Amino acid sequence: MLKRWSAAVLAGALALGALAGCGGDSAGDGGGDDKLVMGFAQVGAESGWRTANTKSIQDSASKAGIELKFFDAQGKQENQIKAIRNFITQRVDVIAFSPVVESGWGPVLKEAKDANIPVILTDRAVDTPDTTLYKTFIGSDFVLEGKKAGEWLVKEYEGKTEPVNIVELQGTPGAAPANDRKEGFGDVIKADPKFKVIASQTGQFTRTDGKEVMEAFLKAHPDIDVLYAHNDDMGLGAIEAIEAAGKKPGTDIKIITVDAVKDGMTALSQGKINFIVECSPLLGPQLMDLAKKVHAGETIEPRVLTEETTFNQEQATAALPTRQY
Ligand code: AHR
Repeated sequence: MLKRWSAAVLAGALALGALAGCGGDSAGDGGGDDKLVMGFAQVGAESGWRTANTKSIQDSASKAGIELKFFDAQGKQENQIKAIRNFITQRVDVIAFSPVVESGWGPVLKEAKDANIPVILTDRAVDTPDTTLYKTFIGSDFVLEGKKAGEWLVKEYEGKTEPVNIVELQGTPGAAPANDRKEGFGDVIKADPKFKVIASQTGQFTRTDGKEVMEAFLKAHPDIDVLYAHNDDMGLGAIEAIEAAGKKPGTDIKIITVDAVKDGMTALSQGKINFIVECSPLLGPQLMDLAKKVHAGETIEPRVLTEETTFNQEQATAALPTRQY
């Protein structure tokens, strides 16, 4: 009876707290009424990678006993900014987000800092020079990913002298992975003039746009040797366009992508993609760990890098049965 009464009082207190816009108190150890509250503003649901990333964050929050206020910005920076402002008003304990684009974050990050709410960047960086506006940035090195893609290409065409015509499907304009993957790839291939990027356009990180843009590339350029797509989804869309044009993906046109989600790995194991640079979406466990540390006032590393590898056909075939995403 006493137990039931205490539970009722607790539920009432929590409800009042929610109405008052409280986001948990300062203890933040994930237990009982001390539950740490995290506001997370996600980019959207543009790719298989993003779906896996969202699942990782949601599952890890619940395992860590963290209350997650999850917001899907549907690919729009203005939606993310609004969500962050809402999290500030609600006085969550920690704000985390994966910025749609790199620029334009200074003012809202300053508002969070002024409200004394720590911010953690996940997956994508911002270009604000004031690094005191966020506690840490956890995610991949996208420039390195682009370099790995370029290095594979250089090796593949080693000893050949004829021009190699490359088309590039870029990610969302202004997004860190689009900027950096382009830069890293370009830095490596520019050393050899036989590599020519004959067309480069955004495919918005989606299958639909990847397919549509590849159709246009194929019409305009009958002589494409290589496709470099900034993610698997655009590469998979492009494969449909290549097949519809009567060409064999992976043979007539070599394909390099980034991510290594299951669908991409399957296409690689079938020889339709030639090489994939991994970008891990499983950032949830580390994010929850960092959030707890930040909330407890511990010092954390300002940059937490994700460990990643690359896959050729054989490696993809071996990895597929245990691939988590
Ligand atoms: O920011 C990570 C990128 O965003 C992934 O590579 C891409 O698939 C996603 O949409």
